[in-house]
Amino acid sequence: MNNISRFQKLKNENKKISVVTCYDYWSAKILADTNIDAILVGDSAAMVMHGYETTVNADIEMMVLHVNAVKKGASNKILIADMPFLAHRKGITQLVEAADRLIKAGANAIKIEGAKGNLDSIKYLVESGIPVMGHLGLTPQSVNQVGGFKVQGKENGSAERIIADAESLQDAGCFSLVLELVPSQLAKDVTGKLKIPTIGIGAGKHTSGQVLVLQDLLGMDDKFQPKFLRKYLDGFSVIKEAVNNYDTDVKQKLFPNEEESY
Ligand code: KIV
Repeated sequence: MNNISRFQKLKNENKKISVVTCYDYWSAKILADTNIDAILVGDSAAMVMHGYETTVNADIEMMVLHVNAVKKGASNKILIADMPFLAHRKGITQLVEAADRLIKAGANAIKIEGAKGNLDSIKYLVESGIPVMGHLGLTPQSVNQVGGFKVQGKENGSAERIIADAESLQDAGCFSLVLELVPSQLAKDVTGKLKIPTIGIGAGKHTSGQVLVLQDLLGMDDKFQPKFLRKYLDGFSVIKEAVNNYDTDVKQKLFPNEEESY
């Protein structure tokens, strides 16, 4: 089943949902051949692929290019695309235009950060036939307001706010909800209250599924080690060693050899 109803089906069957981010064609081709349930073309592309410090530098042009590339490599996977910073806050025409471009680039669904002020937009998109994923907890597009990438839902009243927002996003028609950087117990409470599946990142083990940034799980940044991240490869060292081996072979005149020449 290659559409977003798979999310609900997996939750109903009490099976976990695995999601990873992807931004480019060659990684997408690898993911296409894996067992993961869905791909998120996150606005984290601004940081991971373009070197910006936050996700606010992602815009619709950037997102459309990445969605397009990922779709070409992994058309067999459910593809969710992030609505970039402010693109959904410029009025209904711009909202629909941005969603239209992401869907035509190949997204099956769109993720929108935050609940406050977004509920009507989400309802409108859902009524227009566009599945929407919510995103609560740390919402990186608001990094300038929340003052950094830190755990949310710990201050007085904020856990209750996240629970209320989660319920309002479900009522607005979201098919699923990302919970980022929240205490495990809060993620458990939210997940227990919702019918729709929750997808956690830094939210403990009780969510309906997990999402990680591909480059993070592959260990591509040797300096990045938040508590929640499990690295499944030391990609930084593996790639560095491979490139250095190539460099050595070139300099020692070992590459190319006879078989590698015409
Ligand atoms: O942009 C992104 O990669 C995300 C995930 C961290 C959930 O929103």
